[in-house]
Amino acid sequence: MRVLVIGSGAREHALCVALSSDPAVTALACAPGNAGTRAIAEPADVHAADPVAVAALASSWRADLVVVGPEVPLVAGAADAVRDAGIACFGPSEQAAQIEGSKSFAKHVMAAAGVPTARSWPVGGAAELETALDEAGPPYVVKDDGLAAGKGVVVTTDRDAAVAHGHRVLDAGGAVLVEEHLDGPEVSLFAVTDGTTVLPLLPAQDAKRRDDGDGGPNTGGMGAYAPLPWAPPGLVDDVLVTVLQPTVDEMARRGEPFSGLLYAGLALTSRGIRVVEFNARFGDPETQVVLPLLETPLAGLLHAAATGTLAGHPPLRWRDGAAVTVVVAAPGYPERPRTGDPVTGADAEGVLHAGTTVDAEGTVRSSGGRVLAVTAVGEDLAAARRRAYERVAGVRLAGAHWRTDIALAAVEGRITAC
Ligand code: AMP
Ligand code: GLY
Repeated sequence: MRVLVIGSGAREHALCVALSSDPAVTALACAPGNAGTRAIAEPADVHAADPVAVAALASSWRADLVVVGPEVPLVAGAADAVRDAGIACFGPSEQAAQIEGSKSFAKHVMAAAGVPTARSWPVGGAAELETALDEAGPPYVVKDDGLAAGKGVVVTTDRDAAVAHGHRVLDAGGAVLVEEHLDGPEVSLFAVTDGTTVLPLLPAQDAKRRDDGDGGPNTGGMGAYAPLPWAPPGLVDDVLVTVLQPTVDEMARRGEPFSGLLYAGLALTSRGIRVVEFNARFGDPETQVVLPLLETPLAGLLHAAATGTLAGHPPLRWRDGAAVTVVVAAPGYPERPRTGDPVTGADAEGVLHAGTTVDAEGTVRSSGGRVLAVTAVGEDLAAARRRAYERVAGVRLAGAHWRTDIALAAVEGRITAC
């Protein structure tokens, strides 16, 4: 099977690592890719957000399967264009990707499917913003309704900051959603689906805030671990029955079947499981810890989802142990990341590349805010964590920052779910 991965982050590097170890894969390409993916997958140039260009590359490279990593190409219709070219594609249609592309669309689907989520107030203008904040009460949750790479949400008890964020989004021409605040630990649960059958993967948790102790601004994700030793027994089955299957069924009922990766961002609140958000693709950085634990060959699984044959797929097999990934970020991330700095030690085992390129002299340089996702597997979470931080010590990037407490609360037994 010739497999083409679209994207250029550490999620795509992790996908390439897993796909390259599937004996069914005879050729692997990653477009546009990064300095890390080049070592295991053919590089190819593509403007990932252009569906016509993605489909043209898939045809000329003679792909049997295209795996679209990021949300932007999906929301732009890349999966439709690839399928129209007669090539199997792992990823939802433009219509179905609205479950991530529009938070209010996702709320409508959840309401119709009876899926538990936070109450929300759509805000059309500045006057409605104050009323919505009054009704929701503190802590305030103010969201950009559209795609914002995880950075469109402000959660704060400071009403002025909540108002300011709402105005920023409105002034930029966006729509705002004010939400009820959800307490309790967060879980990311991915499911592979062909639009009918739903196969959940292992639950993971990412660290969204920039600083240790969950301080600082929201980011795309500063680290992750899986599985969750503190998760209540039966969590995955509960989420399958109350969230994932009803959502997939509702999308099919609307005539917008969702096939690909449905990512449920959940809060385990004192009042039960609530959906914080859906994403229409593998999470980043959670993919970097979920895929190393998957023993089932990945290409066969994604191909079954892309071709509507998941019902006949064998149950997923997982290795024992745990995985931890620590994101090494560029100075200034997330607000104004500095790029172009040399990166060394990044060809070591477990070092996944997020934002890197190779210059004309062959030097690896930072090219994004999240530069590396340094990953390790261990016999338990403590061992995986120790190994991941040993590996972080081996990489060099001037001014880099990373969290030192990824998976620490879980290792120390400080997380409890209701
Ligand atoms: P989102 O872009 O919707 O994924 O939100 C990003 C992050 O903001 C989430 O992972 C949560 O940590 C936080 N967040 C979003 N919505 C809520 C909410 N209703 N209550 C509490 N925290 C939230
Ligand atoms: N880890 C958050 C995301 O992928 O959206």
